[in-house]
Amino acid sequence: MAWPRVPCLLLILLLLLHTCLPQPGPPSPPSAPQCHIPYTEGRQADIHCFWDPGQNPQIPTSYSLHWNSTEGISSVVEGTNVSGVIPRELYTSYSDLTVLVKAANQHGSATSTMAAFNTGDIKKPPTPEITHHCPQPLEIYWIVQCEDQGSSDQLCEVQYRPQDQQGWTQEEDILRSFLLLTPRPYTVYEFQVRCACEGPQALMSDWSSVYKAWSSESAPVKALDVWSDCGVTSELSQCALMWKEMPTWLAQGKVLGYVVTLSYSNGTVAVVNVSMSKPGGLCVCQEKRCRFTPSLWGVSSVDVSVYNSQGASKPAPLALPTSGLQVPELSFTVNQDILSLNVSWSLPPQPIENMHEYVVQYKQVGLPPTQGFDWIIVHQNHTSVILRGGFENHTAYNVSLFAVFINSSCLLASAISYSLHGLPPKVTEFKVQHISDSQVTLSWQHISLTQSKGLILCYQLVLNNVTVYNVSRDQNSLHLSGLTSGHHQVWIRAETKAGLGPSETINFSTENSHGFLKYLVPGIIAGMLLLIIIIVQMKNCAKVPDPSNSKLLQQMKLQFNSSLTAIFSPLESNPKISELEVVENPFWDANACPRKRSSPDGQTEGVVGEERTHIRTDEEAEKEEDADEGYSKIIDTDEEERDGGESGSLLEDDQFVSDYEKHFMPVVV
Ligand SMILES: *[C@@H]1O[C@H](CO)[C@@H](O)[C@H](O)[C@H]1NC(C)=O
Ligand SMILES: *[C@@H]1O[C@H](CO)[C@@H](O)[C@H](O)[C@H]1NC(C)=O
Ligand SMILES: *[C@@H]1O[C@H](CO)[C@@H](O)[C@H](O)[C@H]1NC(C)=O
Ligand SMILES: *[C@@H]1O[C@H](CO)[C@@H](O)[C@H](O)[C@H]1NC(C)=O
Ligand SMILES: *[C@@H]1O[C@H](CO)[C@@H](O)[C@H](O)[C@H]1NC(C)=O
Ligand SMILES: *[C@@H]1O[C@H](CO)[C@@H](O)[C@H](O)[C@H]1NC(C)=O
Ligand SMILES: *[C@@H]1O[C@H](CO)[C@@H](O)[C@H](O)[C@H]1NC(C)=O
Ligand SMILES: *[C@@H]1O[C@H](CO)[C@@H](O)[C@H](O)[C@H]1NC(C)=O
Ligand SMILES: *[C@@H]1O[C@H](CO)[C@@H](O)[C@H](O)[C@H]1NC(C)=O
Ligand SMILES: *[C@@H]1O[C@H](CO)[C@@H](O)[C@H](O)[C@H]1NC(C)=O
Ligand SMILES: *[C@@H]1O[C@H](CO)[C@@H](O)[C@H](O)[C@H]1NC(C)=O
Ligand SMILES: *[C@@H]1O[C@H](CO)[C@@H](O)[C@H](O)[C@H]1NC(C)=O
Repeated sequence: MAWPRVPCLLLILLLLLHTCLPQPGPPSPPSAPQCHIPYTEGRQADIHCFWDPGQNPQIPTSYSLHWNSTEGISSVVEGTNVSGVIPRELYTSYSDLTVLVKAANQHGSATSTMAAFNTGDIKKPPTPEITHHCPQPLEIYWIVQCEDQGSSDQLCEVQYRPQDQQGWTQEEDILRSFLLLTPRPYTVYEFQVRCACEGPQALMSDWSSVYKAWSSESAPVKALDVWSDCGVTSELSQCALMWKEMPTWLAQGKVLGYVVTLSYSNGTVAVVNVSMSKPGGLCVCQEKRCRFTPSLWGVSSVDVSVYNSQGASKPAPLALPTSGLQVPELSFTVNQDILSLNVSWSLPPQPIENMHEYVVQYKQVGLPPTQGFDWIIVHQNHTSVILRGGFENHTAYNVSLFAVFINSSCLLASAISYSLHGLPPKVTEFKVQHISDSQVTLSWQHISLTQSKGLILCYQLVLNNVTVYNVSRDQNSLHLSGLTSGHHQVWIRAETKAGLGPSETINFSTENSHGFLKYLVPGIIAGMLLLIIIIVQMKNCAKVPDPSNSKLLQQMKLQFNSSLTAIFSPLESNPKISELEVVENPFWDANACPRKRSSPDGQTEGVVGEERTHIRTDEEAEKEEDADEGYSKIIDTDEEERDGGESGSLLEDDQFVSDYEKHFMPVVV
């Protein structure tokens, strides 16, 4: 099956080679020469002949021009591959010539067919000159100086085109002037003319040089594209009236100015005529957008028209922003393309009543009104549009979709988008907002749209380089619970499509209350054992000391007075109760202690405080090591005062208590 194809392909290749490669052989015959005598004033000139050499020979080929005249003159000149010149001295006026071209190379030669003419008939007439035009209707005029003849029977050709187009349009058999019917208004047209003078074989002159003429203006036909930039509000007083400059081909003339008609709710109508000849003032035009500076406050309708010397366009109403309308929910997405935004939305479930069209507007976030702002009208059947424009890299744009009615507009949806996403900056003000035993609340500042180089997808927090928390971009805090006691490190970074930004770190320490319980039970057991030892010792001892003499109790009294007055009113502070509890509780109901003491009741809080300091003593060694700078900074200052203020003296006291308990603790049964 495959083998017959090979010769077939070879054959095709050979054929291709055969037709494409230079053939070793004589050149192909050139076309018959076409000859004329160019127009020169006064004297006669050489005959210029032109021909088509045919297929371009790849090997050196010479061309020669041969002629015979009726007078018997026979001669030859060398030519280029396309032309040759018969000098004036080698022909006579008004004689018949036969002319042919011969091409020759190393393999042979070929001759063209013969051309025959009378040298009196091949003179070119002078080139005409377009002298002037009338603008309306657009008509051009020219002059030709035909020899001898009364120059009455010239026939001309005209070609013309709008300046911005390539191809010419040609008109033939024209006498002395040319009228361009229905030209595009206010457009530069280019014209060229060539003419033949009367004669049997009258030749056409060369094309005249290009003549340019403006077509006349006419009144603009289209209405202006009018819109407003209201910032993030739909407050009319905040809105700036804007319109797009009309392209010349629509304005159909030089724009002289604009007429803005403002109808106020109180019935007043103000007509503002803004002339372009007096720039500045009420209207500022930049980059093909015009802004009307006066406020629209109190306006009930606005329209704008543009005028040129021939008239004004029909007034274009501004669709005033409204917010009261019931509009359907649409899904609205803005995708980033290469330096453009692809905006698309879903069709509303039911057609929006009386809606004319959509407008998609975009606004560079953070710029003052009307700057970095543009809009585009979209047909009501369409559901997407590609926005192209000078979008800046890594910059936020607020893209909004509006429904436009006869004289009002309504926001349907909006989204923030970036033409190109960059890495987000560092998160700022990352701090511990609240810390307790095993929980911490961290907070930070949102990255604003103007600071962010891309759309923030989420905030990523990493606890101790292990646990990752993704926090929605709408939130700016995170609550962490179930932390083990000790030192923790959390870093935060924002994420955009381009990736994760630089991270910000925070350090903090927690103390776990469950940890306290762990040490509390053995502590109590140890305490009870101690008591039993003391009781045994007491039984052996005859001397019973008076507890009121106890240094411990005096110290404690002082302690609680000072600490409790800081928390409670002086009336509530009763040192006696505290004393009793401290001494008795381990003895009477050791098991009940933890529960009772952990009660948040105000009365026992002093005790809880004390309990903590006792525990502290038990774990003193470890705790003091752990307590680093970070923690002491983080803890609540009130607590710090309470704890820290006491701890120094209590530490000494604890030492005292154990000594006292060992030797003098009374057994009150
Ligand atoms: C004539 O020769 C010139 C170079 O000498 C070449 O550029 C041109 O293409 C030739 N014209 C034709 C029609 O082969
Ligand atoms: C000129 O005359 C000669 C002799 O009659 C003839 O061979 C030749 O082809 C003629 N050439 C032309 C260009 O007519
Ligand atoms: C975006 O623009 C719309 C319409 O002007 C506005 O309602 C919305 O609040 C803007 N969004 C942001 C984030 O500025
Ligand atoms: C606006 O002013 C120009 C001259 O400045 C005038 O020709 C034109 O008629 C005026 N148009 C209106 C509507 O007043
Ligand atoms: C109507 O209101 C406009 C703007 O609020 C004000 O300039 C104009 O003087 C008012 N006209 C009357 C008649 O009150
Ligand atoms: C624009 O987005 C829509 C929906 O996401 C999609 O269907 C369409 O092909 C996109 N157009 C271009 C040019 O990317
Ligand atoms: C727009 O949609 C309406 C109704 O669906 C239809 O009648 C009309 O022809 C559509 N127009 C265009 C331009 O597609
Ligand atoms: C914007 O980003 C594109 C693509 O990365 C880049 O080619 C272009 O130079 C950038 N423009 C500016 C102004 O940075
Ligand atoms: C808008 O047009 C409607 C109908 O043409 C009219 O009833 C309404 O008053 C107009 N609203 C404004 C603000 O001009
Ligand atoms: C975080 O953990 C990774 C491996 O899990 C390790 O390579 C990196 O050095 C750690 N970073 C810090 C700051 O401890
Ligand atoms: C957090 O987001 C990153 C990427 O955005 C993802 O790879 C990771 O799985 C997410 N982690 C959690 C816990 O959701
Ligand atoms: C947090 O602690 C680590 C060591 O554990 C230290 O390298 C880092 O500088 C600390 N960061 C802050 C913000 O204190």
